[in-house]
Amino acid sequence: MSQKTIIITGGAGFIGSHVVRRLVNKYPQYTIVNLDKLTYAGNLANLSDIEKKPNYIFEKGDICDTSFVKALFQKYNPDAVIHLAAESHVDRSITNPLDFVMTNVVGTVTLLNVAREAWEGAYDSHRFYHVSTDEVYGALGEDGMFTETTAYDPHSPYSASKASSDHFVRAYHDTYGMDCVISNCSNNYGSHHFPEKLIPLSINNIKNNKPIPIYGKGENVRDWLWVEDHARAIDDIFHKAATGTTYNIGGHNEWKNIDLIRLLCAIMDRKLNREPGASAQLITFVTDRAGHDLRYAIDATRLKEELGWEPSLQFEEGLERTVDWYLENEAWLEQVTSGAYQKYYEQQYS
Ligand code: NAD
Ligand code: TYD
Repeated sequence: MSQKTIIITGGAGFIGSHVVRRLVNKYPQYTIVNLDKLTYAGNLANLSDIEKKPNYIFEKGDICDTSFVKALFQKYNPDAVIHLAAESHVDRSITNPLDFVMTNVVGTVTLLNVAREAWEGAYDSHRFYHVSTDEVYGALGEDGMFTETTAYDPHSPYSASKASSDHFVRAYHDTYGMDCVISNCSNNYGSHHFPEKLIPLSINNIKNNKPIPIYGKGENVRDWLWVEDHARAIDDIFHKAATGTTYNIGGHNEWKNIDLIRLLCAIMDRKLNREPGASAQLITFVTDRAGHDLRYAIDATRLKEELGWEPSLQFEEGLERTVDWYLENEAWLEQVTSGAYQKYYEQQYS
């Protein structure tokens, strides 16, 4: 395999850290440059196991900062960008939409602009891979699945900003001929997930005997994918996808929120030696999220048929592994839930 220098943005976040770890370990001949601003969601402790590897470099910076991104391109002369940096939490997007426009839209276009200039005349040998979400497709009713041709219909400021960034990436492929690929993935779960999202927040609350806040009646459905399966899909798509293509990535694993939380409670009762049913008593129904999408479900047939990717893990096993990781990594959890997290939690759930 040839040598490559790849800038991975958002590599200190949840999914980004799994992608960085996978590529650093699997491709020692690559140089992986992790560009991350280290917002509340970015944490270098996510990468402590690989930070000393000779093919790994961390650069702190903002993807919206053109001069910084330009200097980074000059310093490393990258062959590719895998772009994950984003503001990623729907609830925060409802409170602060402009933060999402800045990072997700302006940040993406800033990266595209710098890449376009740096790679001009050699687009064929330079790839811009944009990591996106199934939320751009909007909400499904009881039936149906999102395919790569489903029309965009975002509802939250988060999904609207990701939809916009997807459109810009396609525009740079269609207008300038840049080699761009996009993937749209369903909800991820696994280790190093910031405890503002449903699964890690619930694990943390169950552990601390705090109420588990379920929005509305808990009837909303999400399609959950093991984060390491997502990282493997990104690896496959990055290396094998034809230019200009989009792939949907999903777990074939739909769960109503309330059923998922009941399963999680049962797992945690066992792990924490509690009476069966004890953790489920923490379930508390709270005011629904504004504009709450009813159901997401991904049809990942194209990815299976063209690139041979399939999810590897059964949900129960993945959830159990996830719970084990959080129980074994109390210091990580304590570090990320100290300080600003408390304030966020009070504002969001008071
Ligand atoms: P995350 O919030 O855990 O991590 C985001 C990372 O980006 C953090 O390390 C943060 O410091 C960094 N970042 C934020 N703003 C930045 C900026 N201006 N400049 C540089 N770095 C910045 O997010 P995640 O859940 O790992 O999601 C990663 C990507 O995958 C996002 O683009 C998201 O839209 C997409 N995605 C997420 C999911 C999911 O279930 N979490 C599903 C599908 C797609
Ligand atoms: P989340 O993890 O925020 O992911 P997304 O909104 O991107 O799908 O939420 C997953 C589901 O869980 C979603 O339907 C909203 C719901 N939810 C709750 O019921 N309570 C909570 O405290 C959170 C954070 C989410």
